[in-house]
Amino acid sequence: MRLNRYIASAGVASRRKADQLIEAGQVRVNGALIDVLGYDVQPGDKVEVAGRLIEPAKSHVYIMLNKPKGYITSTADEKDRPTVMSLVEDTGERLFPIGRLDYNTQGMLLLTNDGDLAYHLTHPKHQIPKTYRVRVNGVLSPERIARLRKGVDIGGFVTSPAQVEVVKQLERSAVVEITIHEGKNRQVRKMFAAVGNKVIELERVAIGQLKLGRLKPGHYRNLTAREIDWLKQ
Ligand code: URA
Repeated sequence: MRLNRYIASAGVASRRKADQLIEAGQVRVNGALIDVLGYDVQPGDKVEVAGRLIEPAKSHVYIMLNKPKGYITSTADEKDRPTVMSLVEDTGERLFPIGRLDYNTQGMLLLTNDGDLAYHLTHPKHQIPKTYRVRVNGVLSPERIARLRKGVDIGGFVTSPAQVEVVKQLERSAVVEITIHEGKNRQVRKMFAAVGNKVIELERVAIGQLKLGRLKPGHYRNLTAREIDWLKQ
């Protein structure tokens, strides 16, 4: 098994992060420093990351968290803001998030210790559809909806076609569901800004077939076997 994959399957880091650790000279195999990618781990090899012996292929955990607003999706924050990790501490597992949600966005965040799956799912070529329920300021005219559906320029990047449904148009705000296929930084906020509507509230309600449902903010659950199968295929 490739060294980066072995490290990922031990739940130490995602595969991409494992490559960085290898290149940074943090990885030893049977005591010898390995700092080039592509090393094949053999049965019986002893792999150390940052001086710690790692164990391969733990049983994997897959979790759906309803991330509340006011939490950052990261393992640590230099400004000492609360992290999503504090919400899943009681699993006793070292998990990492699959993708990200902004500090002020709530909704579905998947976490796992399966570094291999995390690597696949966050790779740009996979483009898993993600659905957001958005409250925006002002009126969403048919012309703006058409632009969002077709794709808008969010600063050097034109978004691919999106599904957009207006759930409710009130006097001064609207509730919309939008499904996008990329995961650019602050993409949904930028898309609405591009057509002239400010996002007031943003919640991710689905990732592909996985639905947030009635999971409350700050709560998490294990994915079902069917949900895990869907993610893996
Ligand atoms: N789009 C955003 O603007 N923010 C998120 O957190 C996710 C998608």
